[in-house]
Amino acid sequence: MALRTIRIQGDPVLTKVCKPITEMTPKIEELIGDMIETMYEANGVGLAAPQVGILKRLVVIDVGDGPVVMINPVILETSGEQTGDEGCLSLPGKSGCVTRPNYVKAKALNEDMEEYIVEGTELFARAICHELDHLDGHMYTEKVEGPLHDVNYEEEG
Ligand code: NI
Repeated sequence: MALRTIRIQGDPVLTKVCKPITEMTPKIEELIGDMIETMYEANGVGLAAPQVGILKRLVVIDVGDGPVVMINPVILETSGEQTGDEGCLSLPGKSGCVTRPNYVKAKALNEDMEEYIVEGTELFARAICHELDHLDGHMYTEKVEGPLHDVNYEEEG
């Protein structure tokens, strides 16, 4: 496995709509491993494939319970609301206030290309929304309420 370079806001790759993954290949397997390693190295809780320059519908998330791999993820249901600080590895050193659902139910494929359901609340729900936005070329800065502020650490994806 290898670390990948995280693209920074302003890179056009972060504004593109990503394509579904149709089959598992050694290349995709390697990408998943690299993304997890890159996320941990950057102290992120999530990372989307376009953030490492790959326009595929793939995200990895770890809010502290181990890595979750979501291929071709789709949000099925949301409820509630949470408002809080959010950051992104593609905008290091900054964070801003974003309102997200407090509960998210999504479907995705796992590394064996089997569909599964994932449910998350609080940080996990926020991370799912944040990462899935990346797959459609969106950054949290489009949803931020008020100004961005500086942080001394990086979190989020
Ligand atoms: Ni992000």
